[in-house]
Amino acid sequence: MRKPIIAANWKMNKGPRDTEDFLNTFSGKLGKLTAEADIVVAPPFVSLTAAVAALSSNSAVAIAAQNVSEQDNGAFTGEISTMMLKELYVRYVIIGHSERRTLYGETNAIINAKVKKSLEAQLKPIFCIGETLEEREGGKLEAVLRSQITEGLAGIEEKEMKGIVVAYEPVWAIGTGVVATVEQAQDAHAFVRSVIADLYTQELADKIRIQYGGSMKADNAGELLAQPDIDGGLVGGASLEPQSFLDLINAAVK
Ligand code: 13P
Repeated sequence: MRKPIIAANWKMNKGPRDTEDFLNTFSGKLGKLTAEADIVVAPPFVSLTAAVAALSSNSAVAIAAQNVSEQDNGAFTGEISTMMLKELYVRYVIIGHSERRTLYGETNAIINAKVKKSLEAQLKPIFCIGETLEEREGGKLEAVLRSQITEGLAGIEEKEMKGIVVAYEPVWAIGTGVVATVEQAQDAHAFVRSVIADLYTQELADKIRIQYGGSMKADNAGELLAQPDIDGGLVGGASLEPQSFLDLINAAVK
């Protein structure tokens, strides 16, 4: 049985003040939900300290960064290292989000280096994959997902894979209000799990949690998470207000 994992990806929203306000309200209303799902919040870098302060380092809500450098330290202007994140009690890091791939030129090779660097530092990668509409309509869905997984996870051993969460986010569903149908999402998730089984073992593939991302909301989270291979969500827009995110989590674990 895989415990659901629901993560808020705030993208470039919420400075320290808004982060603190959100988390004070949100954590006060979580109740027993943290027993039913792992809950993760990914604020922008500048708000991580405020998030840690609002939640305290041993909180049941885990903090994620939205990106990380593949370098250790040195002359890399504007970059943030895994060690800096560790110092802030960050536990997860989103790697390879489609916005990083398309707007900032991150390749499978860069993403692979970031995943490795994060695992070395015992940060858990939320490893993002997903196809564009053109790729899906051109019959390339499986080829694209297979190469993102194979290249993004190249050289990562089975025992390290246990620290990884995979997020399947069809690019055409992100921020568009167009959610994948449950069949489209389940089929893609089952395929992702089968690729992991091919690369590693079925036993490992059965343990890996695969989140769905792309216009997930309270009114579709329940049916998405009811699918056998959908183990959580990576949520953008619907995670920006405490009540909307709480409603989504409640619907997801029902
Ligand atoms: P939306 O939920 O806003 O579609 O964003 C999904 C996403 O990109 C999460 O990483």
